[in-house]
Amino acid sequence: MPSSPRVLVVGAGGREHALAWKLARDGAEVLIAPGNAGTARVGENIPVAASDIPALIRVARERGVDLTVVGPEAPLVAGIVDAFTAAGLAIFGPTARAAQLEGSKLFCKQILHRGDVPTAMFREFRSIAAAREFLTAREDMPVVVKADGLAAGKGVFVCDDREAALAAVETLGSDPQFAAAARGILVEERLDGMEVSVMAITDGRTIVTLPPLQDHKAAYDGDEGPNTGGMGAYCPTPFVDADLLADIEARILVPTVHAMRRAKVPFQGVLYAGLMLTAQGPKVLEFNARFGDPECEALLVRMESSLFDLLSAAAARRLDTVDPPAWRAGASVTVVMASEGYPGPVAKGRPIRGLDAAAAIPGVEVFHAATRFDADGSVVTDGGRTLAVTAVGDSLARAKLLAYSGVREIRWPGAWCRKDISDKATAFMLAADRAAVAVGGAEPPPSTDGASP
Ligand code: AMP
Ligand code: GLY
Repeated sequence: MPSSPRVLVVGAGGREHALAWKLARDGAEVLIAPGNAGTARVGENIPVAASDIPALIRVARERGVDLTVVGPEAPLVAGIVDAFTAAGLAIFGPTARAAQLEGSKLFCKQILHRGDVPTAMFREFRSIAAAREFLTAREDMPVVVKADGLAAGKGVFVCDDREAALAAVETLGSDPQFAAAARGILVEERLDGMEVSVMAITDGRTIVTLPPLQDHKAAYDGDEGPNTGGMGAYCPTPFVDADLLADIEARILVPTVHAMRRAKVPFQGVLYAGLMLTAQGPKVLEFNARFGDPECEALLVRMESSLFDLLSAAAARRLDTVDPPAWRAGASVTVVMASEGYPGPVAKGRPIRGLDAAAAIPGVEVFHAATRFDADGSVVTDGGRTLAVTAVGDSLARAKLLAYSGVREIRWPGAWCRKDISDKATAFMLAADRAAVAVGGAEPPPSTDGASP
């Protein structure tokens, strides 16, 4: 391995900033295509779009890149890994066929079925009329209506009753943005429970399960409002203790990786399981073929061992030869600062103040999710989810305090964030401690706050 390896990170969001930041700390020289105003601080931005695969191959060749790491799903589904591999270039991520685990919800369900992995019951429809007929004839109950294909996170409708489900089906049938994604439609049993994210690195044979996290998908405090790409995350989540994590690995992650291999679609990359912890145990809501965002930011600030070593071993199919990753004790919290209007259309180009003051707080990292440099060199907003303010602390409470201290330093007109990131975990841990006191009578057990992994 070269002494200072060169890595190309593909993408432009908070996840890619965190990847580039960590890889730079691991001693790599990092190029980011196209990157943002934040990634420019940890490496060199290359003005090539994540969708321009031929140009990315040219960059990797001309700049002697040792490893390419792909952030978003779109280039994976479009075949970036196949193209790099054919060009003899090392790349971390699944092939286009394997990325169908995220790109097609029907393909995902087939793999889950093959692996006997727990998930919601569903029916598949190839026409709007058939889905409509099914819902009309069926007993009225909560369901989830999903477009089969990628729809930028918008193709999922969680419905309380038949009326809402029928409306969702009509939307999928009539809105041109769903034209491609809605060639297949799934109507799923609606699951109840706590939602968590568990990610693993795999080379198609060996898997390395990462600490569990919880995202906050609803826009507003108390999980109110429309669904978003994620308004904040924390790590580790106490909803998944070591036993449950082992169970998720054994009953969900390993069987999925094996089912992919048996289907002759081996999966190399990040296997991200979006899970519902139901009364019957954990069930898969979805798989993603990449790091979650903002989960990636909350995860990587806790990673003490080399991410570069882990990802290059996975890309080279020798994950069995690396030591398990090491994690900083304590916890991390990521708070997404969004621009006015998100998750709808947003105003862009607003100057952001206070970035340096926030970053100066010990334990705080400000990852940029959608920023760019203005003509005068100042940093301005460039999208909905704009910053992912992240902090590590010895406890979850401390990490939260630090993350929000960072948020308080930063301002631009119309900036907003959720104020309750990680509160569900705190409430859960308090209740667990109280229950232990009630049962044990005397001292509470050591607080689960800040528990590893
Ligand atoms: P997906 O893109 O499939 O993960 O769906 C997006 C969001 O919709 C998930 O994060 C859940 O909050 C919700 N969701 C999806 N499927 C279900 C289900 N079967 N039951 C309840 N909620 C669901
Ligand atoms: N935070 C959810 C996702 O990345 O899909």
